[in-house]
Amino acid sequence: MAPVIDVHTHVVPSGWPDLGSPDDPWLRMDSATAATIMLGDREFRRITDACWNADTRLADMDADGIDVQVVLPTPVFFGYDRKAADAARIAAIFNDLTLEVTAQAPDRLVPFCQVPLQDTDAAITELDRCIANGHRGVEIGNHVGDRDLDDAPILDFLRRCAEHDVAVFVHPWDMAPTPRADPWMLEWLVGMPAETHLSLLHLALSGAFDRLPESLRLGFAHGGGSFAYWCGRADNAWRHRRDLVGADSEHPPSHYAGRVYVDSVVFSPEALKTLIAVHGADRVVLGSDYPFPLGERPAGAVIRATSLQADQRELLLSENAKTFLGAGA
Ligand code: CO
Repeated sequence: MAPVIDVHTHVVPSGWPDLGSPDDPWLRMDSATAATIMLGDREFRRITDACWNADTRLADMDADGIDVQVVLPTPVFFGYDRKAADAARIAAIFNDLTLEVTAQAPDRLVPFCQVPLQDTDAAITELDRCIANGHRGVEIGNHVGDRDLDDAPILDFLRRCAEHDVAVFVHPWDMAPTPRADPWMLEWLVGMPAETHLSLLHLALSGAFDRLPESLRLGFAHGGGSFAYWCGRADNAWRHRRDLVGADSEHPPSHYAGRVYVDSVVFSPEALKTLIAVHGADRVVLGSDYPFPLGERPAGAVIRATSLQADQRELLLSENAKTFLGAGA
């Protein structure tokens, strides 16, 4: 049986030093197995030791039938709004601490790094340092302030990732704040899928996919957000109202759906089948968002609950993730 690979899990290492300013994240230990990520004196997120304790992760993986986890940074630590040198320093701290966690089970925990994406040269420098140290890919936020993924310096970074044969996982973050999204975790339920949808359309309609190398391995969280469901609306706009939409791409958005990987953390067999129909059975990868509160447990449950042909199930559980990760997976 091929190894079951979960490409979307997060790490919050413990024991990072004071990052330098009062609003910076710090970890308040609430017990031996619980902590709170604090931003200054504000509670940001309660977490458990699954975030930093490899033994806890491995026990949960065994319980869920997961052989390998891709261990991604947690976006609150990106520091894209800081000076590039500060973000680079913070990235190095978290990247090195992440390796201490994944070194506990190097065959099962695959580390991805974070980079100071606001400065392409600094981002490449940190990426190269991390790949040399054992990281196997990079997670980026889906925007840097008002610059989206089709921003020229960010496209340069993506091109360099393709040249370096490094997989890129795009995670929504920093949703536009509005009090209307405060109740019921709407920032997560609506904001995150909308962020991802926005970024995929930036790449498609700007023509960025026409200019990026097809060898770039680009993955998107949460099933690519609302993109798959609304692809027809965007195609219709591209085909019939380019006078209004002004798209710069050679093809309608659906043409590029097969250029990206999307994870399976959509909780519904109907949604999973839509992902397969839009992106292709070779582009959907198991992702759970473990161990964060709205993640899927057991990880991979929706893939296992959906009626799929055996070869498709194998692709989603294992083979597509191997292709996404690249050499040596
Ligand atoms: Co996530």
